Amino acid sequence: MSEDRYLTFALTKGRLADQTLKLLGEIGITCQEMQDKGTRKLIFVNEELKLKFFLAKGPDVPTYVEYGAADIGVAGKDTILEENRNVYEVLDLGFGKCRMCVCGPREARDLLMHHERIRVASKYPGIAKDYFYNKKHQTVDIIKLNGSVELGPLVGLSDVIVDIVETGSTLRENGLDVLEEICPLSARMIVNPVSMRMELERIKSLILRIRGLQDMIDDVRDGKKEQSGDMSS
Ligand code: PRP
Repeated sequence: MSEDRYLTFALTKGRLADQTLKLLGEIGITCQEMQDKGTRKLIFVNEELKLKFFLAKGPDVPTYVEYGAADIGVAGKDTILEENRNVYEVLDLGFGKCRMCVCGPREARDLLMHHERIRVASKYPGIAKDYFYNKKHQTVDIIKLNGSVELGPLVGLSDVIVDIVETGSTLRENGLDVLEEICPLSARMIVNPVSMRMELERIKSLILRIRGLQDMIDDVRDGKKEQSGDMSS
């Protein structure tokens, strides 16, 4: 491990980056430069800890990490599955929890059950293909969309969609249901395989500190549960 080498983090812009920075702050990793919300800077440095951070669009995070432009990345499991890059997934960060599901009007349940050749709209064609072809052994036509995927069945573009469900309110407000669940999702930490070897100690220590914090949070939560249990008995 070289003392002077920076460890570089690629974070997914938006809520995931905010939650990641909060988590890192709790284990003493901060980046003053990033507090300035009005800045147009792209790379932020913590000289003392020899860390660099940059923000990127979700699907680009695994790309930066695979090529070693970032040693560490934080992205949603949906993005990691869809991009299918050569990176190590080392940690479930526990936030950004949601589910990847097949959704559609209730009537589409029959089409799924009878393995009909249906149209599936998705922002995640890779995940949709893997699910239908490899897991369900059902031949389908996949149509790639870039957002507001729920429109697919509403305007007759597709029979079902493969999409993220978080609160379920988008589905409810549009008269659609979860028909099948593909997998649970959350924010994950990924690492470049070469960085993992070259910077093993620093990365291992980071992972252990985050795990330690997660265990502490779990203990407090479980303790609270027990306490509230005692009170109710
Ligand atoms: C995501 C997802 C669903 C919605 C699910 O869309 O694609 O549309 O959130 O959340 P809910 O279950 O809490 O309603 P996003 O808001 O990212 O925008 P997009 O549709 O343009 O992709």
